Amino acid sequence: MWNLCTDPRSHQAGGTEHLASLCSTPFSAEQVCAFRSPALAAVATAGLGLGVGKSDADAISLVRLALDLGVNFFDTAEAYGTEDVLGRALIGVSRERLVISSKSRILDPNGKPLPRDTVVSNLEQSLRRLGLERIDVFQLHAVQLKHYDYVLSELVPALQQQRQQGKIGHLGISETPPRDPEQAMLTRALDDSCWEVMMLAFHMMNQGPRDTIFPRTLARGIGTLLMFVVRNIFSRADALRDTIGQLVRKGELPEALQHESDPLGFLIHEGGASSLTDAAYRFARHEPGADVVLFGTGDQHHLRRNVESLLRPPLPVRDCDRLRSLFGRLRGVGLVSPEQTTTGIPLQSV
Ligand SMILES: NC(=O)c1ccc[n+]([C@@H]2O[C@H](COP(=O)([O-])OP(=O)(O)OC[C@H]3O[C@@H](n4cnc5c(N)ncnc54)[C@H](OP(=O)(O)O)[C@@H]3O)[C@@H](O)[C@H]2O)c1
Repeated sequence: MWNLCTDPRSHQAGGTEHLASLCSTPFSAEQVCAFRSPALAAVATAGLGLGVGKSDADAISLVRLALDLGVNFFDTAEAYGTEDVLGRALIGVSRERLVISSKSRILDPNGKPLPRDTVVSNLEQSLRRLGLERIDVFQLHAVQLKHYDYVLSELVPALQQQRQQGKIGHLGISETPPRDPEQAMLTRALDDSCWEVMMLAFHMMNQGPRDTIFPRTLARGIGTLLMFVVRNIFSRADALRDTIGQLVRKGELPEALQHESDPLGFLIHEGGASSLTDAAYRFARHEPGADVVLFGTGDQHHLRRNVESLLRPPLPVRDCDRLRSLFGRLRGVGLVSPEQTTTGIPLQSV
């Protein structure tokens, strides 16, 4: 069972405070990955601000602050260039209640699939950079449908061997949302029993996984890591306006929405969300089938606010109903192209 966020001060000696009651028992990698815990606070370390002028020391402070705030799931990847700094930030931190996730690319810079030995060597290097003997969740990164059969026949058996040797806790796969807006790769991967964890895009205007992915991950006990919950669309007013304008022009949204100066303003009120990002993280965190809501930030103020959001109750039912009725049918929305990424994620990783 995945149980995270039990004790926000668990890395500090003598800490006793608890972050709400998100879950009840500590994660143990020896336990079966059943993923029936509520969602939790998780920070992703794609950028940690390193790509936008922050230093290693800033990144380490950010991770330490996240730990103080109760974050106990960190997602990184070979491609992000943050494994080393995350490893240094976690020196001396008890691993008992921490979950570390990382990923290997599956393609070389020319788009050619990597041989299995290279992927295994990537795992070894991730372990070394992170200073770990085992990575709790190891994922194949940004897999497209056209490479899936290769991944299944060539890479999975090699990684399963590594799992048997104890170097991997759980095997996972991440999609590449801008290139796979219909989530075809994950839909195919759900036919196979090897995956214990899936990383996918889900947000207020991209609710497709509610019908296509979550019923199957729930039925199979596959853990879900949600990405793209905010991205540009809910952190930049211009991106939201542009997206709504395009959808109105395509006839996918009512025209009235385009004329509203703040089309999602109905979410922000007393008893509702305090901001659009607050709404976005809470909407995802309370979605049945969402196990871990990732957020990417290099900003301490955003980190604090996001943890607060993830600990707040669900949005009012009326607001969720309106989000579902307005946007529930949309597919592939707000999945910015890699060229527009603002998270510092290398282009080939998304
Ligand atoms: N294919 C893949 O496997 C793949 C692809 C993409 C991402 N990921 C994973 O998913 C993680 C999350 O990435 P994401 O892009 O999906 O994260 P996200 O949380 O949806 O969006 C991050 C963006 O939102 C901004 N932001 C965060 N909190 C904010 C706040 N409170 N107010 C205003 N802006 C805020 C961040 O800027 P600031 O830095 O200024 O806060 C950043 O530009 C990544 O770190 C990575 O681990 C995986």
